[in-house]
Amino acid sequence: MYYPEEIVEEIRQKNDIVDVISGYVNLKKQGGNYFGLCPFHNEKSPSFSVSPYKQMYYCFGCHKGGNVFTFICDYENYTYPEAIRFLADRAGVSLPEVEYTEEMRKKADKKTKLLEINKEAAKYFYYQLRNKPGEIGIKYFTERQLSEETMKNFGLGYSLPYSNDLSKYLKSKGYSDEIIKESGLANFSERDGLVDKFINRVMFPIQDINHRVIGFGGRVFGDAKPKYLNSPETEIFDKRRNLYGMNFARTSRKDYVILCEGYMDVIAMHQAGFTEAVASLGTAFTVEQSLLLKRYVKDVYLAYDSDGAGVNAALRAIGILRDAGLSGRIINMKPYKDPDEFIKNLGKEEFQRRIDNAENSFLFEIRILKEGYNLDNPDEKTRFYNEIAKKLCQFEEELERDNYLEAAARTYDINQSSLRKLVVNLAKETGIAAKREPVKSGIQNKNIKEDSVKKSQRLLLTWLVEEPKLYARVKKYISPSDFTDPLYEKVATRLFEDIENDNINPAAILNLFEDASEQSIAAEVFNTKLEAIETAKEKEVAFHDVVLAVKKASFEHSSASLGTDVTALSKVIEAKKLIEELEKTTIPMS
Ligand code: UTP
Ligand code: MN
Repeated sequence: MYYPEEIVEEIRQKNDIVDVISGYVNLKKQGGNYFGLCPFHNEKSPSFSVSPYKQMYYCFGCHKGGNVFTFICDYENYTYPEAIRFLADRAGVSLPEVEYTEEMRKKADKKTKLLEINKEAAKYFYYQLRNKPGEIGIKYFTERQLSEETMKNFGLGYSLPYSNDLSKYLKSKGYSDEIIKESGLANFSERDGLVDKFINRVMFPIQDINHRVIGFGGRVFGDAKPKYLNSPETEIFDKRRNLYGMNFARTSRKDYVILCEGYMDVIAMHQAGFTEAVASLGTAFTVEQSLLLKRYVKDVYLAYDSDGAGVNAALRAIGILRDAGLSGRIINMKPYKDPDEFIKNLGKEEFQRRIDNAENSFLFEIRILKEGYNLDNPDEKTRFYNEIAKKLCQFEEELERDNYLEAAARTYDINQSSLRKLVVNLAKETGIAAKREPVKSGIQNKNIKEDSVKKSQRLLLTWLVEEPKLYARVKKYISPSDFTDPLYEKVATRLFEDIENDNINPAAILNLFEDASEQSIAAEVFNTKLEAIETAKEKEVAFHDVVLAVKKASFEHSSASLGTDVTALSKVIEAKKLIEELEKTTIPMS
């Protein structure tokens, strides 16, 4: 840990979680808690909860949760120390200067180190481009009409034509082979040692929304393949969650973004004044990226390549945007292939006109669809109309559906009421608006099959946080060692201490875990509830059952692992007695 625990706790207390999260998510009060749409997965009804009492958040949909530090780490893509500094700043708490000793540097967490290495590498490539050996790179960028200012703005660089130039440099800066390899900037083999990934390429540093370099793309000079190489995914480089140019686009003051395919497209557009342009990172557009865009805008203009692959990519992106509740429009780039070529040839004013005349994504889909039918043939024509009707059924809101219906009828000269009839019949057949398969994000697929033992343990801990006075009634039966998972045991130990000291502070308990996934698990421990408890009697029975289940599981666990240890044996016997007692008594709840 970089900072003393008391200071971290002071910062946490001065940043009320409802306050902080309200700055990012629209929250509504509901009972004692606040609810909103989860920023970490795609959803239409709110399952993201924030508890002012616990000072924690937890999403019942994707199971992410934590305290105010976890939230900032996750949302801003910060490391834990960065989140601490960010919130210290917000609350006006001054942090002690941390002097990096060699030892601390060794201990610094991996993410921090990977960020440092990428920054070093970016500086190195940047420097090489602007030196003698980099002239070839300057020449290349200049021929592609990039100004010096643009090169500087995007931190463009050059990697030398030697096999381990960067690796040697990084090693001279004190980085180990191991971490250099993990950064993806070099590969390691027994025979050759470290071999740089990027050799003799112009370099595009990839930055996250907070301008930190998290990876690179590198382009060859000529037509060799692969044209672009990209850093592999690392702990800091998540290709699904980042967009090239987003660090600038987020402050472009436009209420839309332009989504395109290539690094060079983004750069050319920014140079022409379209600083709202972003691109995915050498892979298809993802659900996570749509969520990132949704933080800043409602409309997305697609400037994908005008070839067949580009059209297919655009169709996929449209679906993802629609699922995220974003509206999509398609910019027509013809007769050029991509925005870079377009602007070079026709200029920015013409590009602006194309933006203004961008096609609504629904009409774009229909137009592409039409290419598969010969409308002179009555049969095919009917099938085409049916396909339109099917697509219209995807709009769940009537008003929206109607608007699109009118637009389609107008564009293809179809009788409006006939088209409406088709839609109504189809809707009846399939049971109103045929729901599309939602695009799967991966996070939603979390295996929710519950381990029932752990669930009982979580139920008990949540219960004790919310009604700490019950602790006195169960402490005779339950101790931290009854929690079979080490993480749960750690949480219980601290929680029971806090209750004894009359100082309950669940969010502070999360400070014990720096790892985001551990924090989510700990947050879940404090956010597990039984549904449908109505009467006081039901509640009493349920609570008793939970305590008993935890104790029994602990007993089974310890007798199963019982060796020849005599003290362990006496503990098991003691547990057995307590279980028998519990089975006979009730635990009064008030
Ligand atoms: P394109 O092939 O459309 O290239 O790839 P481009 O952007 O027009 O590149 P220039 O103008 O020839 O320099 C679009 C994006 O796909 C990824 C890169 O992110 C690129 O910007 N890509 C492409 C790769 O990752 N690897 C490749 O070999 C090619
Ligand atoms: Mn191009």
